[in-house]
Amino acid sequence: MPTTAIILAAGEGTRMKSAHPKVMHPLLDRPLIWWAVRSARLAGVERIVLVVGSGAAEVRSYFTDGAGQGETVEFVEQTQRKGTGHAVLCVREALGSLQGPTVVMYGDMPLVRPETIRSLVSEARTHHNACTVLTMTPPDPSGYGRIVTGADGTVSAIVEDRDCTPEQRSSLVSCNSGLYCFCGRRLFDNVDKMRPDNAQGEYYLTDMVGILVGLGEPVCALAAEDYRELLGVNSRSQLAAATDVMRRHINERLMDEGVSMLDPSQVWVGPDVTVGPDTTLLPQTFLWGRTSVGADCTIGPNSRLTDAVVGDRCLVDESVIVGSALDDDVSCGPRAYLRGGAHLHDHAKAGTHVELKGAEVGRGSKVPHLSYLGDARLGDNVNIGGGTITCNYDGRHKSRTEIGDHVFIGSDVMLVAPVTIGDNALVGAASCITRDVPAGALSLERSRQLVKEGWADTYWERLEEED
Ligand code: UD1
Ligand code: CA
Repeated sequence: MPTTAIILAAGEGTRMKSAHPKVMHPLLDRPLIWWAVRSARLAGVERIVLVVGSGAAEVRSYFTDGAGQGETVEFVEQTQRKGTGHAVLCVREALGSLQGPTVVMYGDMPLVRPETIRSLVSEARTHHNACTVLTMTPPDPSGYGRIVTGADGTVSAIVEDRDCTPEQRSSLVSCNSGLYCFCGRRLFDNVDKMRPDNAQGEYYLTDMVGILVGLGEPVCALAAEDYRELLGVNSRSQLAAATDVMRRHINERLMDEGVSMLDPSQVWVGPDVTVGPDTTLLPQTFLWGRTSVGADCTIGPNSRLTDAVVGDRCLVDESVIVGSALDDDVSCGPRAYLRGGAHLHDHAKAGTHVELKGAEVGRGSKVPHLSYLGDARLGDNVNIGGGTITCNYDGRHKSRTEIGDHVFIGSDVMLVAPVTIGDNALVGAASCITRDVPAGALSLERSRQLVKEGWADTYWERLEEED
């Protein structure tokens, strides 16, 4: 039977003190909920049901029109937040009773590994348990539900921290991680037996353990190897702590694969990023989205790459690259901004304070200083003088600038698009180019320079006489 995961994400996340649903707060570059969904998917779960409530529209749109589109999930709405057990009851109302192994997990557990979910499901299958609960022993158990065991050592119930007696609170060290694998049929047959008779007046999913035990159904605990992967995110400081764990984990993997980091505590890399061997990541580097960086590059310091494709032996110094590509041996920065499909071919350069938007820069071409090139194509071995700008926007429309091979553009040139500069052409400094320049031509647009011999000397003398 196929495995289903129900991921609970309807809570308000009051402890976050936020206008956004808790599960949409980002850990690295993805919302918390994405991490839970991805782990379930990688664990081999076929069907994923998200229970949403507070801020449901924001969660839905992330998976339907936003960045999370790669994941197909089903939604169940829990309009009133009456507890984790009530959330599962809403699933039954919306989808009927589910059959087969049914993983229930919380949307605020971003660090859980797919292997952990997989071993929980396999344990549940092997022993035909009605419920298998993953337990953990964190150094500080406060806030977590405690596992109560019977005389024979088997699980008999889960008591929430709030509902514990002082004695239970100090003696019970094994905690509920919030990850369970139920037998779908036995869960849904009994889900209406929960009662809101606890400190919070909520329907607690954790009560299902005691209910199933009372029915003589087999309920087992599986102890997690490391409590840290099960840390729940309830507050901003727990979010920062979870981010730190994930950052270390990703950075350690990259270093094992041959990537150097001057200070790994100052490098943030998203889960879908790849980095080649012998590349060095300097402090304050952020690699987000589907960025890939080749071998032997130096990236940073102070650089942010989102959905960037960088080849081998590139230098990216204090730059921001969004949705753009660098082939091999490209140099970029300090302080370049590449966006909107900019593409630098082999040995090209975008230097200091250069912005490229949707501009293609041919092999060996250089844009070294203070330029903006938007919607432009430069051939090979072009040199763009400092301060040159493509005027690509007339207030309504964007127009293109086409520049051939071996073109030399002097400093401070305005290229008013649409305009084409032919191969080998030369454009004089400070020109405002509004007409096409044919291949091999010189184009110059500026008034003739005036020189008045001795004029300045006379001027200074006159000023002195007046004093
Ligand atoms: C829960 C467990 C606790 C466990 C801990 C692990 C219960 C009653 N308690 O406590 O035993 O040790 O997680 O981290 O289950 N949610 C809904 N609808 C609701 C209420 C909550 O969808 O009506 C969702 C929340 O969005 C959240 C998850 O369920 O993702 C857990 O809720 P939360 O309030 O964080 O539970 P904890 O107090 O952390
Ligand atoms: Ca929680």
